[in-house]
Amino acid sequence: MAERILRPEDIPKSLWNDDNLLHLPTALRDAYLKTLISKDKLEVACKEYQSGPIGGETPEETDLHFVRRFGGSCARVELAVLDPKNDLKNASDFFMRAFSGGRVRLLDIPCGCGAASAVLLATVAELRRQNVLPREPLEVIVTGGDKSDPARNYAELIFGELKEALRNQGIFVSVSLHSWDVMDGASTTSLLDQWLSNQDCDRFFLLIANFSGVLSNKGKIRKAREQLGEVFRWTGARRSTIAWIEPQTNEANRLSVSDVLGEIFERLKFWHYEPKVFDEKLTSKSNYLHPVCNDKTPSVRLLLRRLESPKP
Ligand SMILES: C[S@@+](CC[C@H](N)C(=O)[O-])C[C@H]1O[C@@H](n2cnc3c(N)ncnc32)[C@H](O)[C@@H]1O
Repeated sequence: MAERILRPEDIPKSLWNDDNLLHLPTALRDAYLKTLISKDKLEVACKEYQSGPIGGETPEETDLHFVRRFGGSCARVELAVLDPKNDLKNASDFFMRAFSGGRVRLLDIPCGCGAASAVLLATVAELRRQNVLPREPLEVIVTGGDKSDPARNYAELIFGELKEALRNQGIFVSVSLHSWDVMDGASTTSLLDQWLSNQDCDRFFLLIANFSGVLSNKGKIRKAREQLGEVFRWTGARRSTIAWIEPQTNEANRLSVSDVLGEIFERLKFWHYEPKVFDEKLTSKSNYLHPVCNDKTPSVRLLLRRLESPKP
């Protein structure tokens, strides 16, 4: 395998320390703490930190998810971006190439409280701050889609807090978040239209994170089949990169071998050249420093699919 763009030995200690512990980028941790404080939820964030609902059916569930699971969602995506243990083949290069500079249109679905896109950009910013990556001007137009209004409100707050730190590292972000239901064809077409209609960019990037809990519930994957097919067909028709990151749960494992996804990835084989073996499963795991409780180091495990269009 060719040498990685981000070599594990170049990952700064602020993100991956000598004890092999993942740290959330400071700017994102600060944004998260400020948002928790503004919602008077800092104290509860340390309690029962590992359990919590998978998403935001109700405002109360969204609050719980934000308070208890935001850090874990961030850590999982950060682990994929950095790949400090070299578990994920060239996956880290996919992120490094796409976010090295220029203009990128990023679709984050389901965006929830913004964990996935926020940590991806904050990690790139931290690598720039530590002079590991060059500070080429990078403009990122983030389109987020999620069914939950309260979750999207949290995502607005997080990005509001994070934007300046990103700007300081030459990363200029604009964010538009949309009500989206993966079960609904019209809302999926509308979301894709928001993301893809303007082709004034160097690359499109599709980031799907932590969706298996929802999709594997009560056979939802079958009802979402057509909409997911549409998302991937359009993504494949653009100069694009796809990263799909899930926890290593039974649900995620089952989903990854489901015939619906099998069909989608089989089709993508003709548009995207990596990986050569489409059913390969890339996994990694690590512990991370809890963003609120400094004495807690929960574990995080991931399952990854990544694809890149033929003209990277
Ligand atoms: C586990 S969260 C993941 C959010 C985010 N990607 C992350 O990594 O933190 C699952 C998200 O799916 C959203 N969701 C649930 N049903 C949905 C649907 N039918 N269409 C779109 N989003 C949905 C929830 O509101 C929730 O924000």
